[in-house]
Amino acid sequence: MNVIESLKWRSAIKKFDPDRKVSHADIEQLIKAANLAATSGGLQPFKMVVVAEGELKSQLAQHTFGQPQVKDASHLLVFTVETDISANTVDAYIKRAAEVRGQGKESLIGYSNSMKNYISSMDTDARMAWGKNQAYIALGTVLTVAAEMRIDTCPMEGFDAIQFQQILGLKSIMPVLILPIGYRSEHDVHSKEAKIRKKREDFVLELK
Ligand SMILES: Cc1cc2nc3c(=O)[nH]c(=O)nc-3n(C[C@H](O)[C@H](O)[C@H](O)COP(=O)(O)O)c2cc1C
Repeated sequence: MNVIESLKWRSAIKKFDPDRKVSHADIEQLIKAANLAATSGGLQPFKMVVVAEGELKSQLAQHTFGQPQVKDASHLLVFTVETDISANTVDAYIKRAAEVRGQGKESLIGYSNSMKNYISSMDTDARMAWGKNQAYIALGTVLTVAAEMRIDTCPMEGFDAIQFQQILGLKSIMPVLILPIGYRSEHDVHSKEAKIRKKREDFVLELK
């Protein structure tokens, strides 16, 4: 399938078909896609929360400022960022790197120190903003993969993060983005409209 055609097909769905569910296998593919996304230093300072149809999803749907997507979608992905991005984030990466590549931790000390220095150069707000940037890359990756699979999504910042954190009982992670997943209703209007994007000449600055 041509990826540009998939990107033209995808649309931020406002009205999902509440009767169509995404299969477990397809949800697994989307989780894999998010986990394979690039992140700064490979540190992945975030976690995905997957909420399937049920009481929890209904409760969360009440905190999206009247937007209906969460209620009607098949599943909800909640992108969360670690609230304490620190040397521990680097240590977790080094432990995993040693596991995956069979490398001794000593050979990773240089890398570990440089990443710890980088993190300690940021204040709390900057660390959160940096973590959030990484989550947005994963979001973009999932949007593209879902479109290739002809699964519908709607990236959303329009939700109450504190309420979501409480309802989901999250400790040490904060929701930053949500992504309802499902299939568009035949009554969805937005997906039938032409995409509004900048003209190429207004978007690209080509230099020689
Ligand atoms: C980070 C982000 C947050 C968004 N938040 C919302 C939202 O809360 N509600 C909504 O209906 N659409 C939301 N959108 C969808 C955008 O409005 C949509 O992507 C844009 O209008 C372009 O339309 P298209 O994606 O269908 O091409 C969001 C998109 C992004 C990338």
